[in-house]
Amino acid sequence: MKKQPALEQGRRPCFGVFMAIKTLFVTRLYQDAIDDPALVTELERSCRALAQDDKAGRAWSKANGYPGYTSYASLNDLPMRDPVIAELKRILDRHAQRFATESFLDLGRRKPKLDSLWVNILKPGGGHSGHLHPHSMISGTFYVCVPPGAGTLKLEDPRLPMMMAAPGRTADAPEDSRPFVYAEPATGTILLWESWLRHEVMAGAAKSERISISFNYS
Ligand SMILES: [Fe+2]
Repeated sequence: MKKQPALEQGRRPCFGVFMAIKTLFVTRLYQDAIDDPALVTELERSCRALAQDDKAGRAWSKANGYPGYTSYASLNDLPMRDPVIAELKRILDRHAQRFATESFLDLGRRKPKLDSLWVNILKPGGGHSGHLHPHSMISGTFYVCVPPGAGTLKLEDPRLPMMMAAPGRTADAPEDSRPFVYAEPATGTILLWESWLRHEVMAGAAKSERISISFNYS
């Protein structure tokens, strides 16, 4: 009788097809950095000046329990007001286009278009509870100033509401198999994700403010 060939490691033929586990329905997190300390310094100056000048934004932040300052509800034209933020927008446009391409988003001839951008200055110990960004395609954050111990960005598996009886994952599960992932941005980091991805800014233990600029592309 002819001897069966040894099975390849981890692969088992079944009806002539080799056993395989595929990865489907991928959730992408884009990460890069702006390696331009002078621009980042200018952006920090702009963010702090805005927080001083934007009385309406400070009032909104206070009324809505935001632990610090955000221009989210008060100013919708920052790239037009400030040439430094306009420069940031030009850089972000390129990253958003690249993310759309790498994610196979079929946009025809159109390009991702920035439709909102806002500044966040979080006080030490401040966080931002879980949320997503409706009416947008790609969202993200550029980190202007991340002090040591600042909170991470927690990202949630979008299938969580469907995991009725799914067990938790083992302690050694790789990042792509965990229900929560904690991104640790540094000063200069850019993160992008599709806008439906729920995320949360965890409260940190930093001693100084964490400054970021968030945005949506449609
Ligand atoms: Fe957000």
